[in-house]
Amino acid sequence: MSGKFITLEGGEGVGKSTQLKALAEAIRARGHSVVTTREPGGSPGAEAIRALLMTGDVDRWSPRAEALLFAAARADHVEKTIRPALARGEWVLCDRFIDSTRAYQGGAGGLSDSDIMALHGVGSAGLMPDRTLVLTLDLDQAAGRAEARDGGKADRFALQHEQYHRDVANAFQAMAVASPERMRLVSAVGSPEEVTALSLAALGDLL
Ligand code: TMP
Repeated sequence: MSGKFITLEGGEGVGKSTQLKALAEAIRARGHSVVTTREPGGSPGAEAIRALLMTGDVDRWSPRAEALLFAAARADHVEKTIRPALARGEWVLCDRFIDSTRAYQGGAGGLSDSDIMALHGVGSAGLMPDRTLVLTLDLDQAAGRAEARDGGKADRFALQHEQYHRDVANAFQAMAVASPERMRLVSAVGSPEEVTALSLAALGDLL
């Protein structure tokens, strides 16, 4: 039995963490071993880089510096956590991965997709997920959920202006349309249980 690499993507406040937990349980119930992890982070070295990326002023890092830091964090995470789990035949469910860099530092930050994918080639030998679920929710609803979760404690990315978040959402949509085999758009409008059911359906051919 070979493991699968599944990533969850989308803007802030769409419910990725809740869905990650629910999906892990559902996939375990089908008899698979599951590792859950997140980016930036997921290994001690990558968690240290996460602290650099998430704290400080909104303009602490340029999009180029961010892309390099995310690629460095990802390199460590892939090497220490993701590839070993896949090699053991486990499923890896990851909250954000390369498509977040393509949407945030690319779509919103202005870097080209080819530059971002070149960094991914160097850092992580171009590892791509078997399936990527992009949770979609309109920006106002997502901002409400993020606020309810964080109590107004915003990190560097949540502090970005509205157009930045609109560009992120548009970039995720465009990528999903361009890669229908790997990526699936999942509406996050319903209850957590409804969103989990839609997500499981989008993994149906892999389970
Ligand atoms: P989160 O813990 O809410 O997912 O926050 C991570 C933040 O980092 C989120 O605002 C998106 C951002 N991010 C990027 O800009 N590029 C990336 O490659 C990743 C993984 C996250």
